[in-house]
Amino acid sequence: MLDHAVRTFEQIDELGITRSVRSLNALLFASVVAKDYKEVRRIFLEFPKMYGIVPDLDTYNTVIKAFCASGSSSSVYSILAEMDRKKCKPNAVSFGTLIAGFYKEEKYEEVGKVLNMMEKYNMHPGISIYNIRIQSLCKLKRSSEAKALFDGILSRGMKPNSVTYLHLIHGFCREGNLDEAKRLFKNMVNRGCQPDSDCYFTLVHFLCQGGDFDTALEVCKESMAKAWVPNFSTMKSLVNGLVSISKVEEARELIGKMKERFYKNVDMWNEIEAGLPR
Ligand SMILES: *[C@@H]1O[C@H](CO)[C@@H](O)[C@H](O)[C@H]1NC(C)=O
Repeated sequence: MLDHAVRTFEQIDELGITRSVRSLNALLFASVVAKDYKEVRRIFLEFPKMYGIVPDLDTYNTVIKAFCASGSSSSVYSILAEMDRKKCKPNAVSFGTLIAGFYKEEKYEEVGKVLNMMEKYNMHPGISIYNIRIQSLCKLKRSSEAKALFDGILSRGMKPNSVTYLHLIHGFCREGNLDEAKRLFKNMVNRGCQPDSDCYFTLVHFLCQGGDFDTALEVCKESMAKAWVPNFSTMKSLVNGLVSISKVEEARELIGKMKERFYKNVDMWNEIEAGLPR
């Protein structure tokens, strides 16, 4: 697929079509999707000169993405230098990608450098940059640090959004700190940030894993009221959990709702229902 796209680009003259920065960007994007980062590098280094194309912000951002994804975030500094020379101003996406890249490589000092660099460009990190930092820290199982960053956002009078909360709730759930996850979930709703389906599903799943079936049921009901139903394995562990804490009626009610809604797993639910204590 990618080979073919590259060959077409190279042979375009014979086809009588003109190459543009847009087709170059499409080609780079296809290479990123194919995770062929070597090819991204080659295309970026050779094609603009060879075909007289002037890279634009999109071109640079795609290359930055490729460098970061391949674990060579430090190479992005040379891209930023080239952008400076070519008077192409990086945007929040450029810096956000680079920051995520350095976090992934656990190069925290470089993250600080990039943030200072943003100041020099007169760009002040907005919530999207903070969300990237929070998500990156949570992925590294450093949710407490992410939470400290979050508290800093609040104390500076900045507004977190639903995405901020989702990353933190995910992070704390995965580290087994369900109390913090529950607190954030409450806090989120109080602040008027709407949880999405993923937020509900994650919380129910991990609450069941942690054995907090009462709260899991509460959150699950809230989610189902919005027509968001957790997957079969989560629902099954919730039903079994409720039975284990002698909430057979609640379990039965949930099964009823599931059978009403989904024809797919009716047999499996019937089987589970037949196994419930009388
Ligand atoms: C069900 O959903 C949970 C929470 O989103 C997820 O962690 C889990 O991997 C899913 N299980 C399956 C079998 O898809």
